[in-house]
Amino acid sequence: MDFKHPEGVTVQVMLPRRSLLVMTGESRYLWTHGITPRKFDTVQASEQFKGGIITSDIGDLTLSKRGIRTSFTFRKVRHVPCNCSYTSVCDRQRKATSPCLPESSKEAWQLEREHVHRVYDLIARHFSSTRHSPWPRIVEFLKALPSGSIVADIGCGNGKYLGINKELYMIGCDRSQNLVDICRERQFQALVCDALSVPFRSGCFDACISIAVIHHFSTVERRVAALQELTRLLRPGGQALIYVWAMEQEYKNQKSSYLRGSKTSHEDKKEINSDTSTEELLENQMPDGGSEDLASSVPSTVNIKEEGCKPRKVELPVHTNRTCFHSQDVLVPWHLKGNPGKDKAVEPFGLAGCPDPSPVFHRYYHVFCDGELEASCQALGDVSILKSYYDQGNWCVVLQKV
Ligand SMILES: C[S@@+](CC[C@H](N)C(=O)[O-])C[C@H]1O[C@@H](n2cnc3c(N)ncnc32)[C@H](O)[C@@H]1O
Repeated sequence: MDFKHPEGVTVQVMLPRRSLLVMTGESRYLWTHGITPRKFDTVQASEQFKGGIITSDIGDLTLSKRGIRTSFTFRKVRHVPCNCSYTSVCDRQRKATSPCLPESSKEAWQLEREHVHRVYDLIARHFSSTRHSPWPRIVEFLKALPSGSIVADIGCGNGKYLGINKELYMIGCDRSQNLVDICRERQFQALVCDALSVPFRSGCFDACISIAVIHHFSTVERRVAALQELTRLLRPGGQALIYVWAMEQEYKNQKSSYLRGSKTSHEDKKEINSDTSTEELLENQMPDGGSEDLASSVPSTVNIKEEGCKPRKVELPVHTNRTCFHSQDVLVPWHLKGNPGKDKAVEPFGLAGCPDPSPVFHRYYHVFCDGELEASCQALGDVSILKSYYDQGNWCVVLQKV
């Protein structure tokens, strides 16, 4: 079982067969716990070890294959308001504080560097392995473009859309070197750049797409600037398709596939798994890798240092995967699984010094409310909105350069 402290420290505990684990106080309320899905556990090799905390003694570690596990959980239900001493994590006592957001462009950039750019670079291989099926309405947009069109994919990730229509000349760009490397391995044209400053001449593209990127900018000014930069690339009459993650994960009485992924009953699982196309859609429309979530919705602080100024703390709530959003500005956990491959090293050690088997990274998102994407596009001036719609948890617009 993995225990995780709100400050990020993790400790693995081996529970022997027929054991009884009693959790009270800090272990029950301050730390979160869960059983990470995996085939093997790292355990102590020495014969005398029967259970407990797994230590960092590399010479005394081995792998143990998981078998069938039967466990029973008993909880004591509290019938009176909670007055525990863990106020920062207690659902009842925690005040609904509004997030403390970046106040300057520099602070915004620091937040994005730490919680967008750095994270995508670290998770690139795992992220890419979860992103292979393109979303149908984006494919429809690309397939409807005239043959020979020149198209830019801004924030192209692993290049999922770059090869959809062979009749187009497509070029991708992304802030993450590791994701651009993946595009190149797949023989796509791609380059590293920031969506706020794309190194192409104005008006040279027939179309642009930007899928799930604009929501990674942390101020309204930067989101509008990113949209402005995208439309700068379009020739008059050229079109852009933009997708951003929606605050509303339930629309017209229907839950998005992101929320539906949270169903845990047998019936619900059957319902999802029986439809392969839905399942593919699910995997792709979940910005998260879909792993069990140990993180709770505890606010997380990001230290921002400006030269000559006192360091300021940007405080953001950590979103619980597959649940509704309670704030528009959130940190969304990504549970890195498996071997990160060629990606650069990840932070590997927990409190007890054990390699963290599934480190968690947090990506910053600003989820858009109904009408907000259109309002940002209206601020651009030289575009008209041809279409706007909701597609499985995302707000989407098709723009045309006038
Ligand atoms: C959720 S992924 C979407 C990737 C791809 N568009 C797709 O649909 O699979 C967001 C992408 O935006 C990129 N990104 C984030 N901020 C960026 C920025 N300022 N400039 C360029 N790319 C950025 C990330 O590196 C990541 O590849």
